[in-house]
Amino acid sequence: MIKWVLKRTKGCGELRKDDVGKEVVLNGWVHTVRRVGKLVFILLRDRSGVAQVVVTPKSKAYELIKSIDREYVIAVKGVVRARPPKQVNPEMPTGEVEVSAEDVEILNESKPLPLPIWDEELMKTTSETNRLRYRFLDLRRDRIRRNIILRAEVTEAMREFYRSEGFIEIETPYLARSTPEGARDFLVPSRLHPKKFYALTQSPQLFKQLLMVAGFEKYFQVARCFRDEDPRADRQPEFTQFDMEMSFVSREDVMHVVEKSMKYVFKKVLNITLQTPFPRLTYEEAIHKYGTDKPDIRFGAELRNLENVKPEDMKAPSNDVVRGFKIVLGSDLRNEVLEHLSKMFRSTGVKGLVIDSTGKTYLGELGAEAIKAVTQELRIESNELGVLASGPYMKVSEALGEVRTYLGRVYGLADPKKFSFLWIYEFPFFEVDEESGRLTPRHHPFTMPKPEDLSKLEKDPLEVKALSYDLVLNGYEIAGGSIRIHDRRLQERMLSLLGLSKEEMIERYGFLLEALEYGAPPHGGIAFGLDRLVAVMAGEESIREVIAFPKNKEMADPLTGSPAKAPEEYLRDIPWLKIE
Ligand code: AMO
Repeated sequence: MIKWVLKRTKGCGELRKDDVGKEVVLNGWVHTVRRVGKLVFILLRDRSGVAQVVVTPKSKAYELIKSIDREYVIAVKGVVRARPPKQVNPEMPTGEVEVSAEDVEILNESKPLPLPIWDEELMKTTSETNRLRYRFLDLRRDRIRRNIILRAEVTEAMREFYRSEGFIEIETPYLARSTPEGARDFLVPSRLHPKKFYALTQSPQLFKQLLMVAGFEKYFQVARCFRDEDPRADRQPEFTQFDMEMSFVSREDVMHVVEKSMKYVFKKVLNITLQTPFPRLTYEEAIHKYGTDKPDIRFGAELRNLENVKPEDMKAPSNDVVRGFKIVLGSDLRNEVLEHLSKMFRSTGVKGLVIDSTGKTYLGELGAEAIKAVTQELRIESNELGVLASGPYMKVSEALGEVRTYLGRVYGLADPKKFSFLWIYEFPFFEVDEESGRLTPRHHPFTMPKPEDLSKLEKDPLEVKALSYDLVLNGYEIAGGSIRIHDRRLQERMLSLLGLSKEEMIERYGFLLEALEYGAPPHGGIAFGLDRLVAVMAGEESIREVIAFPKNKEMADPLTGSPAKAPEEYLRDIPWLKIE
């Protein structure tokens, strides 16, 4: 048993000038050790922050301190002193003071570290696999620890807000039947029901609708969701939604409460006052102006049709369109950026080029007349660049939207301190799945179509708009929701449009269809991607930075070694599951 006498009286990060002269006991990890002449300086860290400890040859701990190294866990008893003026560190909250150690106890040792967690610069060159393999060390870094704490604060503030508005927190199952949200299901074999599987819920969608049928009226849940899709910077196979649903509401009601909740959370957690209502764009407007349904509106560079340049000028068929935008780069157009743009245009299959204020073109050519037309139409100034593309309207818009987003990120065009919310609504209900050629819902099949479009459902489905809405923050879709279908006949009509036979409908969604026949109220809701919301608030580009134990790009966890083989005795219980 390690003896532990010195119990903490104060957090390392809490020490201030007021504490000068007081005796304190700190418990924490040795962040760094520096030996200057005969003095030993230790930066001691705990959850609250970092404090400087000085050990002089007079201290009875002086001999012991020689054996300590980074990440040892120690207890220090000492007196708080003001630092000599030259040593004051204004960057550190505890930078005006230090603790002169009288006694030290070593509570545990640490092996030499496999990750340079004391140096953020070195961490930048550390592979993600290594970071995740030693995530318990990676999480000791200030930045990551703060992210995890921020996440807890945001979740707490969301709970507070929704509770105060009369919402009830209710848990729904994770082991369930498939709840489709456009991804593959993770399946769990059932031991008691041979050849049957539970699906881990992709979202609580159907359960929250059943809760509305049950009469709870206002529900929320912090729900883990499971989707078997390839991870990306903003996507994990398991992630967390802050999910809510309300009865007797219109689209406006849901949007209003969501705005109010964001206002509350940003004030409470970041002390930022958001302006509401948030701006709104219809899906069509968003594509027209920004080429994406999740634009970052912190910078301009809006897309427009170029009337005076013809598709033929860009060697594209005459029925194509030419669209473009101009952008202030603030620094030179770098070669690697041009190469990347060229790849982007190639992969999206549109003809694109870049033009500067002198009329010089890159990545493609343009006749003298067309150059004049572009520079005039876009009014390209000397520090600006025009980007244009030709092809079918949607393809061109999306390609330019991607280029705009990319240039915005590379050249840091968006103010990192700004939080720009935006609603996108009036989405087309359906899209055509590229592989199967079948209609699929953009949101999910339980979304209510716009009532005035109902007559177009069978005749002209691609013209039907949905009563759905996405909330976008700084270019990330952080929430999505809709008003739901609460009428069995309409729900059946929708499912049959999606190609489900009567039998399939009953087999998969019979329980929902039945529930809709027993006094289902009009209802609607939304789900926030909590990971994405927190990542944007923390200024992180990847949601992995705000998840304590995320999966890597291969959907694996290098720390625990998941996924792993199933143990023999488990497989014996489900003999029907054959594994070679
Ligand atoms: P949706 O599928 O749009 O809607 O999900 C809601 C929000 O969850 C986040 N999100 C993700 N975050 C991390 N990794 C993922 N793989 C991932 N997928 C989605 C996004 C998204 O906006 N049942 C509906 C909600 C509703 O209609 O109420 C749903 O799940 O931020």
